[in-house]
Amino acid sequence: MNHPYPASEIEAGAAKRLNVPDYVKHQGLIDWVASIAALTKPDRVVWADGSQEENDRLCAEMVAAGTLRKLNPDKRPGSYLAWSDPGDVARVEDRTFICSRTREEAGPTNNWTDPDEMRGTLNGLFDGCMRGRTMYVVPFSMGPLGSHIAHVGVELSDSPYVVVNMRIMTRMGRAVYDVLGESGHFVPCVHSVGKPLAPGEKDVAWPCNSTKYIVHYPETREIWSYGSGYGGNALLGKKCFALRIASNMGRQDALSGGIGWLAEHMLILAVTSPEGRKYHVAAAFPSACGKTNFAMLIPPKGFEGWTVRTIGDDIAWIKPHSDGRLYAINPEAGFFGVAPGTSAKTNPNCLASLDRNVIYTNVALTDDGDVWWEGLSEPPAHLLDWQGKDWTPELARANPVNGKPKPAAHPNARFTVAAAQCPSIDPNWDSVDGVPIDAFIFGGRRSTTVPLVTEARSWEEGVYMAATMGSETTAAQAGATGVVRRDPFAMLPFCGYNMAEYFGHWLDLGHRLQVGGAKLPGIFCVNWFRTDENGKFVWPGFGDNMRVLAWMLGRLEGKAQGVEHVFGTSPRYEDLNWNGLDFPRASFERITSIDKEAWSREFQLHAELFQQLSHGLPPALSRVKASFEKRLAA
Ligand code: GTP
Ligand code: SPV
Ligand code: MN
Repeated sequence: MNHPYPASEIEAGAAKRLNVPDYVKHQGLIDWVASIAALTKPDRVVWADGSQEENDRLCAEMVAAGTLRKLNPDKRPGSYLAWSDPGDVARVEDRTFICSRTREEAGPTNNWTDPDEMRGTLNGLFDGCMRGRTMYVVPFSMGPLGSHIAHVGVELSDSPYVVVNMRIMTRMGRAVYDVLGESGHFVPCVHSVGKPLAPGEKDVAWPCNSTKYIVHYPETREIWSYGSGYGGNALLGKKCFALRIASNMGRQDALSGGIGWLAEHMLILAVTSPEGRKYHVAAAFPSACGKTNFAMLIPPKGFEGWTVRTIGDDIAWIKPHSDGRLYAINPEAGFFGVAPGTSAKTNPNCLASLDRNVIYTNVALTDDGDVWWEGLSEPPAHLLDWQGKDWTPELARANPVNGKPKPAAHPNARFTVAAAQCPSIDPNWDSVDGVPIDAFIFGGRRSTTVPLVTEARSWEEGVYMAATMGSETTAAQAGATGVVRRDPFAMLPFCGYNMAEYFGHWLDLGHRLQVGGAKLPGIFCVNWFRTDENGKFVWPGFGDNMRVLAWMLGRLEGKAQGVEHVFGTSPRYEDLNWNGLDFPRASFERITSIDKEAWSREFQLHAELFQQLSHGLPPALSRVKASFEKRLAA
């Protein structure tokens, strides 16, 4: 370990001081906590109960430690600001591992290491890694407590920041033990910031380690995370459990004779037409490509009578019901959303959710104890930026980053807020049965090539379009931004097993439902992000995405018109409702045109993806590809 010091007293006491509350009756859980405490050697173990009192105490401790700043209670009651270590600001995809028994099971798009070898590595890293710290036992439910769709996890973490975030993001606390009983199943999640403290050593505000491992063992459904305290690396209910482990669970269900289910990187919304017809839509866009915004959409001027309600903004668990339809739940209880770009203009519902009880991470601090980020409003004359440094518009211009004024908030700065605080939250958002899905939408961030919206002709062709989707990388993951990569189903970093088999799972599920006589949801592909010669977005986006959504519902009802082309049907200018917006025909042409050359190149990239995934790739996808290419050549 990187802290050699005599720690015999701490070790001797650690295992004895488990402090198990009398309401915890699950011996398997207690034994597991004891074993992890023996390995990680924390100074003490605290069982989180999820209470307000506990939350306030942890926040006060973090304020004292410098991890949190309390924001001005007149401006943002109950709210805090955290600034992370500059080396710990986003998910680390190159340090994320799927350690299935074989490399093939993880597939070529995931990092894989032999599970035994990884356990050896992690045992070394976790040995004594919580010295000088408290290990929190954090019980949580993904999905409404006790719902037949929900699953329980327990995260052991040495980060109080993780505890207070998990309390917002999941159903966290004492009631989970009632669900677990004496022997209920839970997904064990072990998390450490990887920075043990020597006796008397002063802690830093945001402890972490430059060595990071985000590890999943699909066979045993375990998660081990080391070295990061940020977002999806550390809040293990989110991407690690609700996507990587859950996608395995849904697939495993099908392999063991069930019909199977889906764990997807999707928002869920409800939309009601002026005639009162209510539809539910689930949409997959890659990280920082518009899910939270779309989920909270406010219909623009000219769409009076339409309403959009939010059910989830990031993750959907989707299961077939006895009526043959697919139902979706939001397994989360809060939003961990991108702050930059969020404003009263772009996303008023979101902004209204953020006025109280919020944990902000890596946004800027105003002189009167409020928060600020790029896009919120006119820049204030002075701020402390996300690294605690003085920031003024002049300083920002004098120190440009990538040709733009130095941002005051980190581009992946986020807020953590309870879903219940969102004004547009749907009354059924936490229904135990979920909501029936009428349409799936897939979208990427593409400055060229991909048209505004296309309806797939069939489930198979829709799966093909989702599977071959490309998107420009964003600040949500460490690494270069703006690079186009294939991001199948917006799940590239989140699919917990072989991506080729994942495509097969989608095809099989659709097939089984169709055989049962069900009408499958429509599949649409969108792109809000085509740019002009100055790099500006041509499509106004945000609330105006309602125009596209309304067209999709029109298609489902068999009313809206369009024109068929290579990969499906898209609206002509006259097929969209332009009430309240002056959007020129020529601009529409720019964002809907299909360039033959560009698409030939695009199909080359599809071919590369299929080459990479050739082992187990469903033949149906190669067939669709051949038929699309034939149409393109014609
Ligand atoms: P994750 O939480 O990382 O999964 O992101 P997300 O998919 O929820 O993305 P989010 O809605 O937070 O949007 C990310 C960025 O895209 C923000 O800066 C938004 O302002 C911007 N954005 C969202 N919707 C649109 C749109 O319709 N048009 C344009 N041009 N930008 C958008
Ligand atoms: C994403 O990156 O898609 C997020 C944020 O939603 S994180 O929780 O860090 O994964
Ligand atoms: Mn996300």
